Amino acid sequence: MASCVILTGATGYIASHTWLALWAAGHEVVGIDNFSNSSPKVLERLAQLGGRTPRFVQGDVRQQADLARAFEMAQSHGGASAVVHFAAFKAVGESVEQPARYYENNLGGLMSVCLAMQMHGCRHLVFSSSATVYGDPQSLPIREDAPVTATNPYGQTKLRGEQLLQDLTQSVPGFRVACLRYFNPVGAHESGDIGEDPRGTPNNLMPYVAQVAIGRRPHLNVFGQDYPTPDGTGVRDYIHVCDLADGHVAALDHLAQHDQSLTVNLGTGRGYSVVEVAQAYERASGRKVPLVFVPRRPGDVASCYADPAMAEQLLGWKARRDLDAMCADSWRWQQKNPQGFES
Ligand code: WQD
Repeated sequence: MASCVILTGATGYIASHTWLALWAAGHEVVGIDNFSNSSPKVLERLAQLGGRTPRFVQGDVRQQADLARAFEMAQSHGGASAVVHFAAFKAVGESVEQPARYYENNLGGLMSVCLAMQMHGCRHLVFSSSATVYGDPQSLPIREDAPVTATNPYGQTKLRGEQLLQDLTQSVPGFRVACLRYFNPVGAHESGDIGEDPRGTPNNLMPYVAQVAIGRRPHLNVFGQDYPTPDGTGVRDYIHVCDLADGHVAALDHLAQHDQSLTVNLGTGRGYSVVEVAQAYERASGRKVPLVFVPRRPGDVASCYADPAMAEQLLGWKARRDLDAMCADSWRWQQKNPQGFES
């Protein structure tokens, strides 16, 4: 069902891919971003890829005046029927060093968005949550009814954000929320024109591997080879960012068609180890990815992968792209943009 959707954090990695998926599904989109962790050049790439001018507000979701500008822009398309809230800081290690900044930005931003939605009569919210709310899982694959706990401030902001939204659905008439718990988003749009553009040294595995493959870094440091996993290295559920984007479109359609809130995992249900990812990337790129085994990274868990059945049952969505496609699309983006959007 076509509608006008506001995206916060709109020029970020997952949001920019979701923007294209929403356009392809016939939705109008208004984006808002303060460029704290993304480049304005994303808007040029979206215009080229979508063949239309992105409707965009440069602003901060913590400022009601900035959000009001986004809702006013949406008004020319009959008003915003929903908000997809991506805007948040997301570096686990940084959150440990700067907890107050993470709580203020992530929870303060969420509250500000909810207030603006109420003021503008917008009742459907898709919330970018994370598998990090499961902490160190007691059983695998992980179902949505698994115990939740947060082992770092970033994870706390996602868990408390979910709880805050649960309270609002009980108190604000008609307010409905889709909480999407992402596993490990990787890859890039098939064009290679948008993708993950980490600033400085990548925290996450695949963008780091990509920089090794392109020759920007000499080797991959493998954090731990003594985990209780088949090859001793960490196992994660990597999901293509375009599958993730499609999951957001499906969640919006669900909110529009069913008057119910939901919480679902967005993962493939398949776990891969660090070594398996490095080997897949070598196949996709034709380049070597030398490995150096180093001690475990504090806070890492051994294995984390989803039971994706609930999303398929409720949303009719499942991930379609495999690890080789994730690596091939990541590599195309890396080759076309060796320095990211500043290339
Ligand atoms: C994956 C695996 C590492 C880098 C984090 C956040 C999560 C979400 C996704 C925001 C692990 C290993 C990594 C490296 C390595 N972020 N690794 N060398 O830690 O599962 O999840 O990012 O929403 O909330 O917690 O992802 O990509 O950092 O690590 O060996 O240089 O790769 O130990 O086993 P992670 P990751």
